[in-house]
Amino acid sequence: MRVMLIAVLCVSVVFGFFTQAEARPKSRYDATTKSFRILESGPLEWDSSPWGEGGKVFREVCKRCHSRDNDKGAPFIWAESKTSAAWNRVFAERYPKCANDGSWDGITPDQLLKLNDYLYRYGLNSQDITDDRCQ
Ligand code: HEC
Repeated sequence: MRVMLIAVLCVSVVFGFFTQAEARPKSRYDATTKSFRILESGPLEWDSSPWGEGGKVFREVCKRCHSRDNDKGAPFIWAESKTSAAWNRVFAERYPKCANDGSWDGITPDQLLKLNDYLYRYGLNSQDITDDRCQ
């Protein structure tokens, strides 16, 4: 009986952990297009995942310089380097030097939106954003 109880307890703790770990922002406001982007359903769910197009652009373009111990003078960057809101600012204001010196050339506007979706979805504290739609 006691073993049963402990087993049930363990399962619920583990399950609770996973459901919590899965909580991700469901949408984001995009200042460049002045529209809400739904991140939780349809193709965007895929694009805003690490395996979608946004994650791919991050790995193939951004990480070319922003990898650990790079020789490009670029700080090491990963999704949790910034909060979701801070990532939105990176793309809305394009303040990084590399955004304006040609390093981002070749990324289409659509890919940039998906890259922003991806970084927003996995940014620091992104798990605390349960539903930001229309905020
Ligand atoms: C060709 C190399 C290169 C590529 C490609 C590149 N960056 Fe950078 N990035 C840099 C360098 C170098 C700096 C530091 C510039 C400075 O401020 O002197 C930088 C700075 C930044 C910063 C500001 C630093 C910080 O910690 O806030 C951000 C954000 C950033 N990059 C994001 C990106 C993203 C997102 C991509 C992909 C779309 C990208 N970069 C692609 C070289 C690159």
